[in-house]
Amino acid sequence: MNSCIVGLQWGDEGKGKVVDILAEQSDIVVRYSGGANAGHTVIIDDNRFALHLLPSGSVRPNIVCVITNAVVVDPDTLLKEIETLAQKSVTLTGRLFISENAHIVLDYHKKEDQLREESLGKNRLGTTIRGIGPCYADKVGRSYAVRMSDFRNLEKLKDKLQTIVEYKNKIFSALYNAKPISTDEIFKKCKSYADKLLPFITDTTEFLHKSIVDGKSILFEGAQGTMLDLDHGTFPYVTSSNSSALGMPTGSGIPAKMVDRFIGVAKAYTTRVGAGPFPTEQDNEVGQYIRDKGHEYGTTTGRPRRCGWFDAVAVSYAVTIGAIDSAALMHLDTLAGLKEINICRAYKINGKETTFFPANTAILSQASPIYETVPGWDEDITEVKNFHDLPANAQNLICLIEEMVKIPITIIGVGPKRTQTIFR
Ligand code: GDP
Ligand code: IMO
Ligand code: MG
Repeated sequence: MNSCIVGLQWGDEGKGKVVDILAEQSDIVVRYSGGANAGHTVIIDDNRFALHLLPSGSVRPNIVCVITNAVVVDPDTLLKEIETLAQKSVTLTGRLFISENAHIVLDYHKKEDQLREESLGKNRLGTTIRGIGPCYADKVGRSYAVRMSDFRNLEKLKDKLQTIVEYKNKIFSALYNAKPISTDEIFKKCKSYADKLLPFITDTTEFLHKSIVDGKSILFEGAQGTMLDLDHGTFPYVTSSNSSALGMPTGSGIPAKMVDRFIGVAKAYTTRVGAGPFPTEQDNEVGQYIRDKGHEYGTTTGRPRRCGWFDAVAVSYAVTIGAIDSAALMHLDTLAGLKEINICRAYKINGKETTFFPANTAILSQASPIYETVPGWDEDITEVKNFHDLPANAQNLICLIEEMVKIPITIIGVGPKRTQTIFR
């Protein structure tokens, strides 16, 4: 059985926790998009792991971990993660495979990301400043790209870096009046990355196809969420990769038809970090209640997340374009204590009601939510193990969301720990 986990909102839905749980029944976990902009939290007993590049399955010692072609790898972050796990006696040796074709995020990408964001002032996108946009731009531009396979020929890489850094420095100086970066320093770092990472580098497409033939069970771990997809999300307030389910085949070299089920992950409310329209945002005491109770602060940047009600229009769109089979609904516990809970069932745009998410972000920013209001509950549900033991109003909320998004909710999160999960 091969499965793919995808975020159905604007990221941070709780994918890390779901992947950690489902990894128990898998042989291989694959990260197939994004980079160190992702922050996936896994909590096991008293240990909290915040993973940015390693698949969330990596905390289980017997799982094979794969980072595929479409991931942009920041070697500093990856090596730190490998080291952090090693300190907890979890070794990646012999069970981590990184694609030859994965592109590398270097210091000049992070610098470019930061300078561009600063220069945009109030028009900034609110990126994570992890160099994601500039690295993917270099990938698409081709001439100035550095991939894992470049670590195999350091002499050639040195020449390439000379050209790239010269070009980048011209931009830094002319556009931002910023200090140049040194080719020697970048090259020195690359040599050290090559030493440490070469043992992990391989043809992951071949590895995954052979694994499928051998009957291995593969779990694909999406990063970000559908609404942050470069082509299908709320452009330009998106990330620079295809973070919807549609990105999984190109991201990994495995066709979608080889995946048996696509599982979408959503929260029982909505959060978003960074700029961009957010129709159900509650920039008020309700939003603050959710932020405090759900600890809604970014795993990667620590920024307070914008919070709002569940948006069934956005999630239905993510389900539709991803052909999502079933959903995990996380953070149900966070809603406890709210007298009433709103679910957005449609948008009103220019006086017209619609239930299909608009393709145009300018139009989306004019959408006002039409809510269905249901009563909340006060009970703490963090130790509930069965759906039927949840308060009736919590059960009704889940059924209502199922009706609106038209797929079954088979996993329910009632707390951050592995054990705080209800299966249906
Ligand atoms: P990801 O990026 O989708 O993996 O999600 P993040 O890890 O960035 O953010 C989700 C946060 O919610 C993490 O701190 C998780 O530990 C936590 N979490 C996940 N599921 C639940 C849940 O059902 N209830 C609560 N209270 N916290 C959860
Ligand atoms: P996970 O995998 C939430 C957001 C940023 C910003 C936009 C562009 O943890 O769900 P980027 O640095 O990618 O150029 O930023 O995308 N963003 C995320 N928001 N969760 C993430 O990942 C995100 N990765 C990027 O906040 O709005
Ligand atoms: Mg996250």
